Amino acid sequence: MAKLLITGGAGFIGSHTCVLLLEAGHQLVVFDDFRNSSPEALKRVEELSGRRLELVAGDLRDPGSLGRVFGSGPYASGGGIDAVIHFAGLKAVGESVAQPLLYWDVNVGGTRLLLEAMAAAGCRTLVFSSSATLYGYPAQVPIPETAPIQPINPYGHSKAAAEQLLADLAASEPGWRIARLRYFNPVGAHPSGRLGEDPQGLPNNLFPFLTQVAVGRRSELQVFGSDWPTPDGTGVRDYIHVMDLAEGHRAALELLLAEEPQLLTLNLGSGQGHSVLELVKAFELASAKAVPYRLVGRRPGDAAITVADPSLALERLGWRTQRSLADICRDGWAWQAANPQGYRG
Ligand code: WQD
Repeated sequence: MAKLLITGGAGFIGSHTCVLLLEAGHQLVVFDDFRNSSPEALKRVEELSGRRLELVAGDLRDPGSLGRVFGSGPYASGGGIDAVIHFAGLKAVGESVAQPLLYWDVNVGGTRLLLEAMAAAGCRTLVFSSSATLYGYPAQVPIPETAPIQPINPYGHSKAAAEQLLADLAASEPGWRIARLRYFNPVGAHPSGRLGEDPQGLPNNLFPFLTQVAVGRRSELQVFGSDWPTPDGTGVRDYIHVMDLAEGHRAALELLLAEEPQLLTLNLGSGQGHSVLELVKAFELASAKAVPYRLVGRRPGDAAITVADPSLALERLGWRTQRSLADICRDGWAWQAANPQGYRG
């Protein structure tokens, strides 16, 4: 069993992954500034797994905070970190257009500081949260990892830069074990209904918007574009259940710890595309709620279709998604129905 640092461990994907890692017997130090997350999520992680974790509250850009994790300074947690899963970061496309300096600072600068702290402590194993956003308007679908990296907004540029930094580091010095995991569209929730996505303010993404309409927090969903070159005219995405994604992290981590040092780059998606209207229909069925929606114009920056080619993850990790769109909707609804106001309720 390993001692793991989980940055951003209280967030949506981080919290679900923490449950699996605790259940697998690993020891966790969660590092989070709670900018976009809640300490309540960590209480529930402990409740679901029946295990305790260690929390260090702080910002990656504060060297004192990282020092506490890696074993220096007066409040050191004891160091001895075997590997890091780095979820912490900002992920709102629109906000990144308005505040590019912030995105470069947190997503690139924060990652650099983390890597410096890891190198100084002799920890060279990292699983990094990357994104399918790197592929921009994809030249081919399904998208393999070899597709061109051509982000179209500052958020995507910051993820591309952090990926490049990891490649440069791996090339500079043997011994680094790094996985860059490119997520497609993470949705759904823990099947218990105790953990889920809890965006602050107006959700940017389709799934939490949909669940909030169904629970009555918002009056209607706007469907961005009905004239896309897709079967029903609405955008097609590769939705991946957050528990499948969490399992992908565990598999990647275990591979890094078992194999020779390497740089691994993997898409994590289902390989299946679903349109906005298909998702709405599946959600209505799972929740037995009507979801009022209105067709409006396209959202700037959207692609018609993004779907993963996940075959490399199957080959390298033996991992593939296990959960269907119906599972995603059932679990997402269980979370939203039990927690209409998210963790604040
Ligand atoms: C999905 C589909 C929309 C909202 C974004 C980021 C990406 C990644 C995941 C992290 C599209 C449509 C949406 C709404 C709608 N994040 N839609 N009404 O754009 O595929 O990806 O989140 O890395 O970087 O760009 O996800 O959930 O916003 O949109 O009709 O209110 O739903 O047009 O077709 P997207 P999304």
